[in-house]
Amino acid sequence: MAVEPWPKLHSKLRFSRIRVKYNTMASSFVFGVRTILGLVMALGALAPQAAEAARAFFVFGDSLVDNGNNNYLATTARADSPPYGIDYPTRRPTGRFSNGLNIPDFISQHIGSEPTLPYLSPELTGSRLLVGANFASAGIGILNDTGIQFVNIIRMFRQFEYFQEYQNRVTALIGPQRTKQLVNGALILITVGGNDFVNNYYLVPYSARSRQFSLPDYVKYVISEYRKLLTRLHDLGARRVLVTGTGPLGCVPAERAMRGRNGQCAADLQRAADLYNPQLVQLVKDLNSQYGSEIFVAVNTGKMQYNFISNPRAFGFTTSKVACCGQGPYNGLGLCTPASNLCPNRNVYAFWDPFHPSERANGFIVQEFMTGSTEYMYPMNLSTIMALDSRT
Ligand SMILES: *[C@@H]1O[C@H](CO)[C@@H](O)[C@H](O)[C@H]1NC(C)=O
Ligand SMILES: *[C@@H]1O[C@H](CO)[C@@H](O)[C@H](O)[C@H]1NC(C)=O
Repeated sequence: MAVEPWPKLHSKLRFSRIRVKYNTMASSFVFGVRTILGLVMALGALAPQAAEAARAFFVFGDSLVDNGNNNYLATTARADSPPYGIDYPTRRPTGRFSNGLNIPDFISQHIGSEPTLPYLSPELTGSRLLVGANFASAGIGILNDTGIQFVNIIRMFRQFEYFQEYQNRVTALIGPQRTKQLVNGALILITVGGNDFVNNYYLVPYSARSRQFSLPDYVKYVISEYRKLLTRLHDLGARRVLVTGTGPLGCVPAERAMRGRNGQCAADLQRAADLYNPQLVQLVKDLNSQYGSEIFVAVNTGKMQYNFISNPRAFGFTTSKVACCGQGPYNGLGLCTPASNLCPNRNVYAFWDPFHPSERANGFIVQEFMTGSTEYMYPMNLSTIMALDSRT
């Protein structure tokens, strides 16, 4: 059977976008009951096309995938001042922890969608809801007690409550059956877990969790809690979920500066990632066999990042040790702020700030999502998923 050709998909998408723009203009220029009625009807006619043009995309997790939810919250975990966003199309900070695009943005590009709006954005209304939504919040972890120092952030259980609320809003727009189709047919990304080590177990010496658990027992506990979250996501209708492992936690500039010996990767955090990532793959395998379907896809972001950390030049980076924006050794101390050192050419840095990859590195990571072998994408990569799902 032939795979649905992408060009056709794109032309449908463009067609529906033009209509969205027309509706938006109509609503701001014309008033009166008849116009509003006409608008509601036009929106109704538009909805199924928008939904089938590009599949919806939902994002859950932490700062690696937050598109700006924390801008709307009273928290210190935010990326809403320069130089964040310096290479974004608007050249302004958006709340993304990147100089430009982040991982969800590149995925949106690959599936032919607009970038996901933060769920808390007031712009996320009407037909824009059908593109999907981003529920991620910088600082959160799998556990509720991760990131408590950031106070007011959207923890995982709350991200899922918002997802339920989102589905109620879309149901009011296109009805229950089409909403179910939209959610079941959606692509979902969940990136969480790194903070359970960096901003919990290893946040301070003798942290509560490190006194409670040995590292191997903590990893088992975190994985058992993650199982509950992924089960909940399935219950909420998720049927294609990319589940990322943690990056090489000890090799980010912050950890080299704070915990590494002579700027080496910090051994304790590397050990945590080495214990956690294989158990996450096993969890994905278990859940898929439990559901009898390839719902969850394990993404080996650890290996993807380790490739450019161990051999930056092969990717055109001059360094993978020093962050572009920051201060202190490896620009790894404190936050990236307007007062920080800022590298002139962001494209030759693997890390943008002390914790987060640069836009260019994010592009490489998502390229592996698309075409990686089973070592990177288990049981299959995103190109295969897209080809498979376009047939159903
Ligand atoms: C996190 O908090 C929510 C709300 O209080 C609760 O329902 C959930 O069980 C908690 N999760 C964990 C792992 O403690
Ligand atoms: C991944 O994608 C490429 C095409 O981009 C394909 O050739 C390859 O077989 C895929 N691998 C898996 C494991 O799905």
